Amino acid sequence: QVGALIGACGGTRVLIHYGGSSAVKSGLLDRVKASLEKEVVPYALLGGVQPNPRSGLVVQGIELCRRENIDFILAVGGGSVIDSSKAIAAGTVYDGDFWDFYTGKRIEKALPVGTVLTIAAAGSEGSPDSVITKEEGMFKRGASGDAIRPKFSILNPALTQTLPPYQTAAGITDIMAHLYERYLTNSKEVEVTDRLIEALLLTMIHEGPRVIENPDNYDARANIMWAGMMAHNNAVGVGRSQDWTSHDIEHELSALYDCAHGAGLAVTLPANFTYVMHHDVMRFAKVAVRVWGCQMDFDHPEVTAKAGIEALRNFFISIGMPKNFAELGAKEEDIPKLVDSLCYGNGRQGSISGFTTLSAEDCANVYRLMV
Ligand code: NZQ
Ligand code: ZN
Repeated sequence: QVGALIGACGGTRVLIHYGGSSAVKSGLLDRVKASLEKEVVPYALLGGVQPNPRSGLVVQGIELCRRENIDFILAVGGGSVIDSSKAIAAGTVYDGDFWDFYTGKRIEKALPVGTVLTIAAAGSEGSPDSVITKEEGMFKRGASGDAIRPKFSILNPALTQTLPPYQTAAGITDIMAHLYERYLTNSKEVEVTDRLIEALLLTMIHEGPRVIENPDNYDARANIMWAGMMAHNNAVGVGRSQDWTSHDIEHELSALYDCAHGAGLAVTLPANFTYVMHHDVMRFAKVAVRVWGCQMDFDHPEVTAKAGIEALRNFFISIGMPKNFAELGAKEEDIPKLVDSLCYGNGRQGSISGFTTLSAEDCANVYRLMV
């Protein structure tokens, strides 16, 4: 259907952007090309997006789109391909350096983007965000704007059946992180969105192990894919403040070590939650009881809160995710470098904020908890 969908969105000259090899090997890229050819939509190709996508390929894509008068970008792949496509879409119609958007300038205008998703994870298929790593300095930063939210996304669970178990698990972890980052709020009386987030977390806890056990389980893949979209298109985050410090902390890990974003989050979330738990211990106790089935200890709610964090940690371990720096391939001696880039790099002012504000010293302490 992709050729017809692009036509319906007014696309007449398309850039098909894709990753390393998975979409070629599975035959998906050929199917996409055939669909465009059937609708007589001319296209150019740009492959080679790597996980944790880089600025260099974005610049190449921008030049190609201008040269070829491209008016629609089709991402075929995962979050990395989609984010690279979004960066190219915004950069092509902008006079300045596209990196301006990754230092705080909001994206107001972009070429339209559509996606054929091949991994349930980042949620970029429904989000107005893009995360790119700038090769000079290796800064991994995000940009935002509704102009880059995809015009359509094709979510076919069968396309995710070729994923290796590690990538499947990293995706599950990322989806759960997007739910937790929204759950950790300072807004009061947000029961509707609390309950929606809890429902999605329960779904992930049920479906995750099923798909790890049997990668061909279409139904589990389908539920996870839909949860991934719901987790990050902000349907469950409306009207509430959100956290995102865990994502900031993790992005330094995947920037420095090129690890999978989800794997970095599996190590980051339990550490950061343990560190910030006392900011609102009842919120952590609530998720522990409602999602993880922990017993509420009214005299010592911190005991319940901690049990919920341990249950989350053990869940990540059970699906094959790393539990500490060593398993992730990170090094304790790099902590000053990680903190420096996190809190001072690329225009930051010495701290990060969300659920709480974390100073450089706080961030160093969080990284130390991961060792
Ligand atoms: O490059 P190929 O060969 O396609 O291989 C990919 C890649 O190695 C492989 N893969 C994808 N679909 C496959 C497959 N292998 C076999 N069968 C399939 N069906 O999986 C590997 C990982 O792909 P990637 O696109 O990097 O994964 P993901 O979707 O997890 O994206 C991660 C990126 O998204 C960012 C992350 O920071 C990271 O850079 N994020 C983007 C967000 C957003 N835009 O809203 C929010 C997230 O929080 C996240 O930060
Ligand atoms: Zn994420």
